Amino acid sequence: MKKLFPFVIVILLNGCAGTRQIKTAAGSLKDTYKKDFLIGAAISWRQVEEKDPVARELVPRQFNTVTPENLMKEMELTSAWGTYDFSRADRFVDFAKANHLQVNGHTLVWHSQMPDFARRIQSADSFRTFFTDHIRKVAGHYSGKVQSWDVVNEALNEDGTLRSSPFLNKLGANYIVDAFKLTQEVAPNTALYYNDYNNEQPKKRAGCMALIKKIQQAGVRIDGVGIQGHWHVGKLPFKDIEESILQYAALGIKVAITELDIEVLPRNFTGADVSRRMNVGAGSDPYANGLPETVQKQLADDYGQLFALLLRHKDKISRVTFWGVHDGQSWLNNWPIAGRTSYPLLFDRKGNPKSAFYSVIKAKKK
Ligand code: G3I
Repeated sequence: MKKLFPFVIVILLNGCAGTRQIKTAAGSLKDTYKKDFLIGAAISWRQVEEKDPVARELVPRQFNTVTPENLMKEMELTSAWGTYDFSRADRFVDFAKANHLQVNGHTLVWHSQMPDFARRIQSADSFRTFFTDHIRKVAGHYSGKVQSWDVVNEALNEDGTLRSSPFLNKLGANYIVDAFKLTQEVAPNTALYYNDYNNEQPKKRAGCMALIKKIQQAGVRIDGVGIQGHWHVGKLPFKDIEESILQYAALGIKVAITELDIEVLPRNFTGADVSRRMNVGAGSDPYANGLPETVQKQLADDYGQLFALLLRHKDKISRVTFWGVHDGQSWLNNWPIAGRTSYPLLFDRKGNPKSAFYSVIKAKKK
């Protein structure tokens, strides 16, 4: 339909509640940015099963790429040596295909979600066999079905040194190069990314740059770097983000914002180390009954400024993926404190666009 107005008044019959809702909605995210970069979301199993009516409407309408929030992690695919269950991850790939969505595979090598049997492996040789077999099996199974992989996730410390993990401790510092080499052998047409949080911060960025150069100098393919983008409202490091895009792109690779959300709840640390927790205190969950307009506006301003920045460098950006479809799905409702009410994304719990959504659309119209 020819866009006569930037906003289209749409009368939608909400199949679930059987009630008419009149929503004003600008054009979709994917259509607004279709000449710039892919726009995606992390999808849960419940959403693959189409048991989330809000996501069922939003995903095909707003996004052109999806990432499995958990379904392709090591412990989701295998719980015993040589035994794999791809059924749920295959359902995810089928869901993406049915909805004309590209797929970013997440993630082949991550210390945080290893199956118990692998974590218990003592000998380095046996561990290398697990590591090699896992990558070949999973990346081979999805070769031609996923467009990109987060090959290795969160291998760095905040100071840019390699994180102590079973992979580093048993395989040595070259394990990351090995992971990319193994993946490229079985998935020759899949874009290969290194993914991390806070790697827009100077020290961690330096370590990430060194990692990327090491892979390249080994003659192994790396196509991009993922900056996860788990940021905090009113505190987005815009200068670091822009400098990082420029520095990573200068290495001849693409940059993706892979897990974008903007936390509005109080937290006494940054980053996304899922192993961290925070004690419940007075004021831990200040917005259980709704987000104040002042915070809603700051969130909108932050998202608008971020997308204006990304548009300035759209030639370097391959994809922007939100870490969830709507606020009700977000991991931030349960981390680092369980049972809070957060509002980090562009759509509210009922699937209504927030002012942040309109700021992202408006950033393109400028
Ligand atoms: O599937 C089980 C379910 O059977 C069980 O009843 C339930 C209760 O224990 O747990 C369920 O698994 C949970 C899983 O999410 C699926 O809901 C895990 O406990 C829980 O730890 C897991 O959390 C995920 C977390 O990564 C750890 O894998 C979050 O949903 C996910 O948003 C988060 O995403 C990570 C990225 O992969 C990497 N970057 C950081 C980002 C945020 O931590």
